[in-house]
Amino acid sequence: MGLFGKKKRDLPVQTPDMNALPKHIAIIMDGNGRWAKQRHLPRTAGHSVGSETFRKIATYCNDIGVKYLTVYAFSTENWSRPQAEVTAIMGLLRQYVLEAIDSVEKDNIHLRFWGDRSRIAPELLELMEHAEKKSERMTGIFVNVCLNYGGRDEITKAVQKLAESVKAGSLAPQDITAELIGEHLYSAGTPDPDLIIRPSGEIRTSNFLLWQSAYSEYYFTDVLWPDFDERELDRAIVSFQSRSRRFGGVDAKK
Ligand code: IPE
Ligand code: IPE
Ligand code: MG
Repeated sequence: MGLFGKKKRDLPVQTPDMNALPKHIAIIMDGNGRWAKQRHLPRTAGHSVGSETFRKIATYCNDIGVKYLTVYAFSTENWSRPQAEVTAIMGLLRQYVLEAIDSVEKDNIHLRFWGDRSRIAPELLELMEHAEKKSERMTGIFVNVCLNYGGRDEITKAVQKLAESVKAGSLAPQDITAELIGEHLYSAGTPDPDLIIRPSGEIRTSNFLLWQSAYSEYYFTDVLWPDFDERELDRAIVSFQSRSRRFGGVDAKK
């Protein structure tokens, strides 16, 4: 397990400074399949427990006052999985969205979906839009669920929109700025993630928030997503709070 994972879990629980929380936490919810395999269960059992973990972590973030939570639920590349697994994941998402329609107002959650909607089944899409509409005036946590999301796809679509404006004569090429590109992403209006967490031991982004992560702090752990809990999130936040973010400048404290 090395530096991460089991050994680390034996360390005493660390408490984050609740006055210096990351404003925006993003999570690559990975490791469901391996969690199931370890237990000789079908991969879908891992996705099912993983979806419970998502509910638990979203609730915790809302309780402690994290303002934005963005989760990677299904990538543009995940369609290449066996059809039965894709169907099971979509079924779990549907279940979450149905629950959200009933609970977003009570829980004060502003729910949004980031990703290409053209490939989402019409019935699920309708529910997603209903949930977004119900939650649009909520002022608590913003929860962004990335579904059929790919960082390259997101940037490509933004470039296409800008190119159309240039072609129509309403935009000059030299007026294309980083800010303008940002305004054409799913994340328009949302601050960049301060902290990006990837459980499961993989040390890669897998096409997640490519544009927005330019100055994000990463936290990797061997813990598999279905085993992830509030204490793991605390550890990630404590680690974040020990970092010196320089954004290309010099450390103000030194
Ligand atoms: C993440 O868990 C969930 C999705 C990608 C939908 P995985 O299913 O990728 O789990 P591992 O990586 O195979 O363990
Ligand atoms: C990233 O995990 C996507 C999600 C968690 C939704 P993957 O399991 O798909 O990524 P790779 O294949 O290990 O890079
Ligand atoms: Mg995976």
